[in-house]
Amino acid sequence: MVKICCIGAGYVGGPTMAMIAYKCPDIQVVVVDISVPRINAWNSDRLPIFEPGLDEVVKSCRNTNLFFSSDVESHIADSDIIFVSVNTPTKTRGLGAGKAADLTYWESAARMIADVAKSDKIVVEKSTVPVKTAEAIEKILNHNSRDGVNFQILSNPEFLAEGTAIDDLADPDRVLIGGRQTPEGQKAVAALKGVYAKWVPEDRIITTNLWSAELSKLAANAILAQRISSINAMSALCEATGANVSEVAYAVGKDTRIGPKFLSASVGFGGSCFQKDILNLVYICECNGLTEVANYWRQVVQINDYQKLRFVNRVVSSMFNTVSGKKILVLGFAFKKDTGDTRETPAIDVCLGLLGDKAKLSIYDPQVSEDQIRRDLTTSKFDWDHPQHLVPSSPTAKSKEMVTVTWDAYEAAKGAHGICIMTEWDEFKSLDYQRIYDGMEKPAFVFDGRNAVNPDELRKIGFIVYSIGKPLDAWMKDLPAAPLT
Ligand code: NAI
Repeated sequence: MVKICCIGAGYVGGPTMAMIAYKCPDIQVVVVDISVPRINAWNSDRLPIFEPGLDEVVKSCRNTNLFFSSDVESHIADSDIIFVSVNTPTKTRGLGAGKAADLTYWESAARMIADVAKSDKIVVEKSTVPVKTAEAIEKILNHNSRDGVNFQILSNPEFLAEGTAIDDLADPDRVLIGGRQTPEGQKAVAALKGVYAKWVPEDRIITTNLWSAELSKLAANAILAQRISSINAMSALCEATGANVSEVAYAVGKDTRIGPKFLSASVGFGGSCFQKDILNLVYICECNGLTEVANYWRQVVQINDYQKLRFVNRVVSSMFNTVSGKKILVLGFAFKKDTGDTRETPAIDVCLGLLGDKAKLSIYDPQVSEDQIRRDLTTSKFDWDHPQHLVPSSPTAKSKEMVTVTWDAYEAAKGAHGICIMTEWDEFKSLDYQRIYDGMEKPAFVFDGRNAVNPDELRKIGFIVYSIGKPLDAWMKDLPAAPLT
């Protein structure tokens, strides 16, 4: 029986390994992590991440051919193929701080593999890493290995999207495997291809050299994020001219060269990957002397920051230029619907912006705990992607006072001056907005950062409504634009 071990039981390691185990009953898969609480959660009834369909997949093969363990070393020693799916956050200090990928977790995983491996291993980069990381990993492994133990490094970046991870894994657009162009390298590529070929059609399994595979992941995320920043930039122009961004996106997306997906304007992209991977790409370009290319990609992140700031300014300027002491209901905190993941969610910057203007926030998200929200509002930028157990953070008194986290949107709306929709959860579409309106201070505002609700219906109730990129209410049209500071 082939044995697979995956280091890192996170949003990628957990679901991807569960899918391999589910599709390949003849393979034993063990997912290991240094975080004991995370492993305990994977072994419990309440999995550590929320992902539609994940429960069924995990529960159908857990303790049959899928195992979760914190006994990292022994499972590494036992396995033929080792996936490394640890976090690769943005560096917070030193050379490249704020841009370069922090490979501390990756390096320590590689050193551990070298330390405990007594037989040949295929080591698979599942994490998103800078191009040429495989070369560094090879050096670490080969300089620290026992005599006679050989390693083959493969790059097999993950393209799943949170919220649809299980569908993406069951029916991927493509699986990408990069390896060395040597007979041993190609043998390793074939071995990994054999695993995926159990359920993925062969023509969707792409094999390339190592560097193409590593760079393709960064390129894919950069181009996806660029699409969002492009439509978000258009949304600002739509608001200024009276065009409707949904109509523009529809018309543009009908062009088969462009296509309709990923053209929804919003308060900005979030998630653990887009910003981090683009900044990493910017850094790699700079290191290669490609200043213009670096500046081009940096602009994608800058437009994203602009979009969040623009949203905050719109809220404050609409509410008589001050939200001080005003209660604002924040609907949604996760970076998108169908996930509880809050990493780099635009809600953080918007909430911090409103708190900066002394608003009182009441936050509701169906999948995000109070503890997580408080942590997110008090953790410094870029620290969030370091494992939580390594970055202690305690809510400040200020955040305790100014922020309440609620499980009842109707209760939370009582006495609120405004509502900010930060996540497009389906349930927000079917709330009883008349009931909400009745309990609010007047004038009552809705600022829809996701174009999740029908502005015309809300206007009929009496709300003053702002929807990203849509024609503005007369109320907002006449207001001077707040400066973007
Ligand atoms: P995560 O933070 O959810 O999981 C990483 C896990 O690795 C943590 O549980 C951490 O405790 C563990 N870990 C760190 N160092 C370790 C070590 N030395 N030994 C054992 N465990 C260790 O991160 P996530 O979201 O799963 O991302 C992992 C990688 O996959 C990142 O490089 C990310 O960029 C990439 N990726 C993420 C996607 C996503 O949607 N979240 C999609 C595609 C790629």
